Amino acid sequence: MKSYTLIAPAKINLYLEIVGDRPDGFHELVMILQSIELADRIAITPNKIPAFRVRCDRQELTNEKENLAYKAAQLMRQAFPEAFANWGGADIFIEKRIPIAAGLAGGSTDAAAVLVGLDLMWNLGLTKPELQDLGAQLGSDIPFCVLGGTAIATGRGEILDSIASLHSLWVVLAKSENLAVSTPWAYKTYRQQFGHTYIQDEEAMKSRARELHSSALMDAIAHNDGANIARNLYNDLEKAVLPEHPQVQKLKEAFQNAAVLGTMMSGSGPTVFALCESLEEAERVKAKVQAEMDDPAIGFWITQFSGHGISIQ
Ligand code: C5P
Repeated sequence: MKSYTLIAPAKINLYLEIVGDRPDGFHELVMILQSIELADRIAITPNKIPAFRVRCDRQELTNEKENLAYKAAQLMRQAFPEAFANWGGADIFIEKRIPIAAGLAGGSTDAAAVLVGLDLMWNLGLTKPELQDLGAQLGSDIPFCVLGGTAIATGRGEILDSIASLHSLWVVLAKSENLAVSTPWAYKTYRQQFGHTYIQDEEAMKSRARELHSSALMDAIAHNDGANIARNLYNDLEKAVLPEHPQVQKLKEAFQNAAVLGTMMSGSGPTVFALCESLEEAERVKAKVQAEMDDPAIGFWITQFSGHGISIQ
């Protein structure tokens, strides 16, 4: 049995619309998700014992059983008991590069990498849709992390429709290390404040997804028009998170002052991203925002759109 090292990219949301409540307690969403090159590295090594051991180079993630990567390994064990009995478990090492609790699907992409890695290690021959279905049992973003690139996501976020990959825009990400936003909190707060606007009718919910197909953002994506993609970024969760966290609002304003193509909070935040046409522009924006914010706790990353999900190194 071989060892594998997988590259697990983060994602940003170019579009996130909350449409209504679902019977399972989640929200019905219409989103456009985009992989970025900023990625974790996951090494999976057969350990020939009947257990999984998950380690990470970041202290915040030392509780292995709480880690989504560990849960993904346990799910594979339950789904494929014979493979586990025959081949044993694995040692999983996560080199964390994606900021944690940041709205970038860092935990989800590590879990997606474990699904892909164990499929390879145990030689199961699973298809992408099969891996995505397994991922959906653990988290709404995991199916997209398996697939990657650019995709429309509906339902809980697990129903995916790939869009031809975009020409690579540059992305500047910024996040304060003192701030983490809980995703359940963000959705709960949104429901409390905007629940009265939710669409109830199932057909009307579906038509929201259809309307996105003919939106200005989709047109910009089809034409690879970076300026118009950036102008049409959208995220409903900003309405819940920004009033509660003025630092995030301030960061967004600093990006706007730096004359970026467009800026938005990703997912449930608190990471703010800005889109730029070139690396030089991204570096200029980073320097300007860093100077304006003048806060050493804010981390900055420069990265690019990526056309793929989990890949083997
Ligand atoms: O699926 P995941 O575990 O990533 O979701 C985290 C939380 O975000 C859920 O427990 C739920 O509170 C909220 N959520 C939601 N509707 C979605 C996705 C997530 O309400 N479609």
